[in-house]
Formats: sequence, C-alpha cells, structure tokens
Amino acid sequence: MSVDGDRPVIDWATDFDLFDPAYLADPAAIWQDLRGRCPVARTERRGTTWLPVDYADVRAVAQDTERFSSRDVGVVTAGRGPGGTPPKLLTAPPITSDPPMHTWARRLLLTRFGPHAIDAMTPVTRGIADDLLDAFEHDGRTDAALSYARHIPVRVIATMLGIPLEDEARFTDWAVRILQNGFEHLPEAAEAIREVLAYFGEQLAARAALPADERPDDIVSFLVAAEHDGAPLTPHHQLGSCFLLLLAGIDTTWSAIGSALWHLATHPDDQARLRREPALIPSAVEEVLRFYSPVTMARHVIEDTELRGCPMHAGDKVLLAFPAGNRDPAVFDDPDEFRIDRLQNRHFAFGSGIHRCLGSNLARMELRVAVEAFLERIPTFAVDPDVDPAWSGGQVRGPRHVAVRWGDPAAAGRR
Ligand code: HEM
Repeated sequence: MSVDGDRPVIDWATDFDLFDPAYLADPAAIWQDLRGRCPVARTERRGTTWLPVDYADVRAVAQDTERFSSRDVGVVTAGRGPGGTPPKLLTAPPITSDPPMHTWARRLLLTRFGPHAIDAMTPVTRGIADDLLDAFEHDGRTDAALSYARHIPVRVIATMLGIPLEDEARFTDWAVRILQNGFEHLPEAAEAIREVLAYFGEQLAARAALPADERPDDIVSFLVAAEHDGAPLTPHHQLGSCFLLLLAGIDTTWSAIGSALWHLATHPDDQARLRREPALIPSAVEEVLRFYSPVTMARHVIEDTELRGCPMHAGDKVLLAFPAGNRDPAVFDDPDEFRIDRLQNRHFAFGSGIHRCLGSNLARMELRVAVEAFLERIPTFAVDPDVDPAWSGGQVRGPRHVAVRWGDPAAAGRR
C-alpha cells in the first residue's frame, strides 16, 4: 500500500509513487519507460517531488549545492504538501549539512573511515561472518537476509562506534522503523528517532564522564573529544553524527549483501564462475552496487529554478535516484544486464559530489568479506522459489528475504 492510500499510479511521468508495488518489484522497467518520454518525472503525492532518471541529471543535482540543499534528504517528509505542518527536521552532520559547515563536519570524520580503519575492521568482519555461518552451515537452508546479511553491518558499525553489541536487536529495530518502514509510517519513525537520540545521549554522557585517557578508542569517544575552531562540538552535533553513523551503514549494506546473495542464488552461472574465479569478487561487488543500487536520496529546492525545462519551485523535493542513473544506457553498455566482469563501471551507488558516501570503503569491504565467506563455507546454493524476497524500497531498496537451500534438498527439507 502506498503512503497516499491505495491510489494506483496511472501515469508514472506525472504521478509516480516510490512505494507502488510495481516500483518496488521492478523499478528498472519504469525508469526505461520514463527515459523514453519524460526523463524528469513529477508527483504531487506528499508534496511536489521530482524524479530525474538520467545519470547526467541526477549527478547535476547532486553536485549543485547552491540550488539543491541537503537540509532534508529523506525521500518523504512529514507534513509536506498543501495544509501540512512540517516538523523540525533532524540534523545529522554531515549528511544534512550544506557548505560551508559540511566541509569541516565531514573532514572531521574522514580518518575514522580511511584505509587504516577499514584494514583494522577486515578480520573483525570476517569473524562476525564466520560466527553467523557457524549457526546454519549444516542446516542445508537458511534465510540469508535474516540470518546473515542483516547482522554483519550492524555488528561492524556498533564495534566502531563503541556501543554494546548486546543492543544489536534495538539498532536493527531502529533501522527498520526509520528507514525501511518509516516513510510509510512517519509517526512511528519519529518515535524511533527519539529513541535513537535518547540512547546516544546516554552513551555520549557516559564517555564524557570518563577522564580523557580512560576513554576507549572508538567513534563515540572521538566525537566527545572532537573540536571545531577550538571549541567542542555541540551536543546537538554529536548526537546527529552518532545517529547518522549508526543508521547510514546498517540498512544500506545489509540490502547490498542481501542483493548479492539473492543474485548468486538466482544466477547459477555467476555463482559457479565466482567459485572458480574468486579474484572476480571485487568486480562482482561493483556490479551488485550498480545493478542493485540500494540508495535513493533527496534534495530540497532552495529557490525557483528549472531542470531540463521543468519548472521547480522553492520547497519542492528532487529525488536523487542513483539506482536509476546506474541503468542509463548513455553511460553503461547493456545497463539492464548484470555482468560480473564489467570493466567500465563508473556507477554512483555511493552518490556524487561533496556528500559521496563516507563509508564506501567500509561498505565495499563488508560486501567483499560477506560474499567471500559465504561462498567458502556454503556449497552451491539456490533460491527457494516459494519465499517472496519482499523487496523493500523508498530510500533503501533490498530483499528482506533471501531463502536459499544447498546440499540434498530432501534432507534440508526434513530439518
Ligand atoms: C552499500 C552500502 C552503502 C551505500 C549504497 C551508501 C550510499 C550512500 C549515498 C548514496 C550517500 C550520498 C548521500 C547524499 O548525497 O545525500 C551516502 C552518504 C553517506 N554514507 Fe553511505 N552508503 C553505504 C554504506 C555506508 C556505511 C557502511 C557507512 C558507515 C557509517 C555510511 C556512511 C555514510 C555517511 C556518513 C554519508 C554522508 C556523507 C556526507 O554527507 O558527506 N554509508 N551513502
């Protein structure tokens, strides 16, 4: 069901709906149709919102911070549209910041996600993957989205932040309520946001209470000690960054790992080739990111302007459909074909311009390790056709179920 009720989409060019079942199931067919006749679609559902689908247009908007602000990056905002009262927007630096603040708020965090930090997390990630595989490798079947993909990113980022792994179920619940279900259930998402902020309020206060030399070396302690222009970050800034760092990497990476395993389970030739040629895994990861790009962002139009002749007004929303741009035939040969060894693959699944994903090295490492470990420990697997993958969509797209079987199917069925 869509946020706007059950009203079906009649014309995707003038009344699109990201939550329509057709868009969730196969958005590529819709982008292709739009590209042929109206490459910047529009809707009045939930306030005026534009949807460019060509790579060049998406990139132009992402790179133009003068006309398109990041103050509101959610694909849906409560209270937009005629008569609505928008609530105060959450600030989560750097993703919701425009220059000049964005520049220093991002620079501050760079070292925590640089190559050194990612190298340190690689064996930790492999350990997490192995622990998860231990639990089901002899079962002959699993739901790889639920038992594997969704645990890896949350455990990795919780370790980096320095927050208790025992709270994993709460972190996952927040990601689901805010990013997966949140845009269709805005009051519930608002409640979950309050819970996240209260949680980090306690975590930050506990760190601040420790003498500096007794604080653990993690991102929460780092934010407590961080300064800008000789002054500590405001509590508001610290909280917003904690919120962002916890949530930006969970659902996104979990969706990408799930998509990778879904693809291999449904494409036996690609799975066999990766087993024969594991050196192709990094290129397969890039193709997963292009073909199954999980993330769509939004920008807020600052002043009246136009894009490809479409008049946009201050306060309109423009969606950055990176997944659509990644299927643009002007940029990619046979864009709707998944090529595990694609050589030219300048996809922008991680965004474009100043807000390009700060966690891209981390996400790539997690994807590579997750796929490597699964292929090493689980023999040839295939999808269970009776289980609906239930693709989620909106801001982050991914399969919520990846039911797979391996070994003797009769034996697996008896367990
Ligand atoms: C496959 C996984 C991931 C995908 C596809 C992805 C995608 C993106 C995209 C498209 C943006 C640009 C946002 C914009 O233009 O408004 C972004 C920004 C960001 N991502 Fe990721 N992301 C992933 C994983 C991660 C992880 C693991 C982290 C770790 C915490 C992370 C942290 C961030 C942060 C902090 C930003 C904001 C950067 C800025 O505003 O300067 N992401 N991501």
